[in-house]
Amino acid sequence: MSETAIKAVIPAAGLGTRFLPATKAMPKEMLPVVDKPAIQYVVEEAVAAGIDDVLVIIGRNKNALANHFDRVTELEHTLEQKGDRSKLERVMHPSSLADIHFVRQGDPKGLGHAVLRSRKHVGNETFAVLLGDDLIDARDPLLSRMIEVSQSQSATVIALMEVEPSQIHLYGCAAVEKTGEGDVVRVTGLVEKPSAAEAPSNLAIIGRYVLKPEIFDVLETTAPGKGGEIQLTDALQALAADDEIAGPVLGVVFTGRRYDTGDRLDYLKSSIQLALDREDLGPELASWIVELAPTLEPTLEPTA
Ligand code: UTP
Repeated sequence: MSETAIKAVIPAAGLGTRFLPATKAMPKEMLPVVDKPAIQYVVEEAVAAGIDDVLVIIGRNKNALANHFDRVTELEHTLEQKGDRSKLERVMHPSSLADIHFVRQGDPKGLGHAVLRSRKHVGNETFAVLLGDDLIDARDPLLSRMIEVSQSQSATVIALMEVEPSQIHLYGCAAVEKTGEGDVVRVTGLVEKPSAAEAPSNLAIIGRYVLKPEIFDVLETTAPGKGGEIQLTDALQALAADDEIAGPVLGVVFTGRRYDTGDRLDYLKSSIQLALDREDLGPELASWIVELAPTLEPTLEPTA
């Protein structure tokens, strides 16, 4: 657990176009992974890292998100009357996790723009950003390590993960140098969604950041970049290029389990993986998969 409590910001105002039409009237962060919306896992992760104040940046479909973290008295009352304690606990849990606040992004002008909308709430303090569609397995804590590194070195800290070179064009990518600590690297440059040929490494930025308040001034002057959006990666690149602005930018290299629920195939894999890990669902699901597997024809040529 971190020494000083910090606030968390969860941007959830993206258009989620890869998931249409499911995301036509519902943010992708509300898609259920097994039986909880993705964003609930992310709030639980922030709470496990010692955070009790969470700001969610919301877009056009804000109601589902706000309602999920609110009380639903009729439902609670009905379950109470039926004496169904376990379902009652599941309904009440999201509303008792943390102090959850909401702010609208307005136009979805990019992740950097969404983070900038948190300025008033965060104030002049270090804060964490957790992407609402990126799940980190609760058994592999990442955020508390990032907070510790940020506090001990007065640094901006981003989470990095090795990916196949063929996948790097889907991520921001970091040029890095080693430090004395095995899981920590110094970030010397960042590029948003480079081609495999342009990529300075195979270290991808994943959706966890511990940022210092100086990032806000940088974001105010960051011009729209890739896709015409204000990119958080571009603002972080400005910090990495000049230590004078806010100290160093460090990366914590994550080797644990991560699930990307914003992509359809990864979403399906995440749901299956997390259900397999559950005592109530895992054994039956595993038997079904074992029965199903021999009937499947692989359609892709195996790669050499
Ligand atoms: P993504 O690029 O994955 O989200 O943004 P998207 O644009 O919604 O996805 P597709 O490609 O259209 O399917 C990463 C994170 O930043 C948030 C998203 O909600 C997601 O958590 N985001 C992105 C915002 O909050 N505002 C934005 O303007 C853009």
